[in-house]
Amino acid sequence: MKAVVCQSYGPPENLTLEQIPDPDVAQGQVLIDVHAAGLNFPDTLQIAGKYQFQPPFPFTPGAEVAGVISEVGEGVTDLNVGQRVMALPGIGGMGERVVCKASEVDPIPDRMDFTTAAGFGMTYGTSIHALKQRAQLQSGETLLVLGASGGVGLAAVELGKAYGARVIAAASTDSKLEIAKQHGADELVNYGDGNLKDKVKELTDGKGADVIDDPVGGDLFEQATRCINWKGRILVVGFTSGTIPKYPTNLALLKGCALVGVFWGAFRQREPQVSRENTQELFKLFEKGDLKPYVSQTFPLEQYVAALNVFVNRQAMGKVVLTVRD
Ligand SMILES: NC(=O)c1ccc[n+]([C@@H]2O[C@H](COP(=O)([O-])OP(=O)(O)OC[C@H]3O[C@@H](n4cnc5c(N)ncnc54)[C@H](OP(=O)(O)O)[C@@H]3O)[C@@H](O)[C@H]2O)c1
Repeated sequence: MKAVVCQSYGPPENLTLEQIPDPDVAQGQVLIDVHAAGLNFPDTLQIAGKYQFQPPFPFTPGAEVAGVISEVGEGVTDLNVGQRVMALPGIGGMGERVVCKASEVDPIPDRMDFTTAAGFGMTYGTSIHALKQRAQLQSGETLLVLGASGGVGLAAVELGKAYGARVIAAASTDSKLEIAKQHGADELVNYGDGNLKDKVKELTDGKGADVIDDPVGGDLFEQATRCINWKGRILVVGFTSGTIPKYPTNLALLKGCALVGVFWGAFRQREPQVSRENTQELFKLFEKGDLKPYVSQTFPLEQYVAALNVFVNRQAMGKVVLTVRD
């Protein structure tokens, strides 16, 4: 089968497209004919050797896919050959076939196409875990989302609205903010000029946001710690800025606020039942029309370099998806 292969750490240009053997299906796994592969910022970290999980070489990147089950391993009783599914194999998604633990595979709702399904799991899964289990976001609270037009950010905007929050979307350009507005954001903050804190304070009568969802880190995090409301929760989701910020703990004391870590991968391993409930809730919200997954760009598998560089060049909006077969 055709697959993108990482032989050594580097930029997307370092990867190769190769013919490799189909993966073997072990007990408890299924084989999936991949129709579409969802890309994520962490893919760019992993191929560069900068991610928290680094598989041995050679490996095929790609954490999430949608496709059709073509083989079912021993012991798998709840999935069948021919079923349309989305899956979170962790690696291996950027190829024509991938194996995945059955527990990381979900049948796709009828009206969800492969392209949408391929980009659904990680961003919505992370953001529902962040807002629900970690921040315990309440209806009527103010949610500030940084990087609000990115994959994780846009999912947080939609979920925040679905949970009844007033959502302030923050991003670096007006065109990115326009996407967040189309997906339900109540207020928009352009931090392209470097100013986040004062604008958020202005929109919240000087109080700050109750929950801040931060997939960006760096200087924006520092500012976020200064526009959090009393008893607020700052969600540490990621560091796309490239800088892991330091936290002045006196601010936690002064605001009576909490710094809350979000690690969706570990959550899925440690609390599989809650994670499954989250997925079912996401499907219901999708069916109701509360979630409108936005795939801004699709690329054929062969154009994996251009597709990954969308993230590297800070251009991703919503989801970027590789189409692998029709
Ligand atoms: N904690 C978890 O469990 C978990 C799970 C999944 C993903 N994540 C993390 O969440 C973050 C977002 O992932 P994603 O796939 O949603 O990424 P994405 O679609 O590329 O969005 C990231 C956003 O970060 C902002 N950004 C600021 N500086 C950037 C830079 N130098 N390069 C690229 N983007 C920059 C961009 O918005 P502006 O231009 O508007 O600033 C962009 O929209 C990543 O750090 C990822 O590792 C965490």
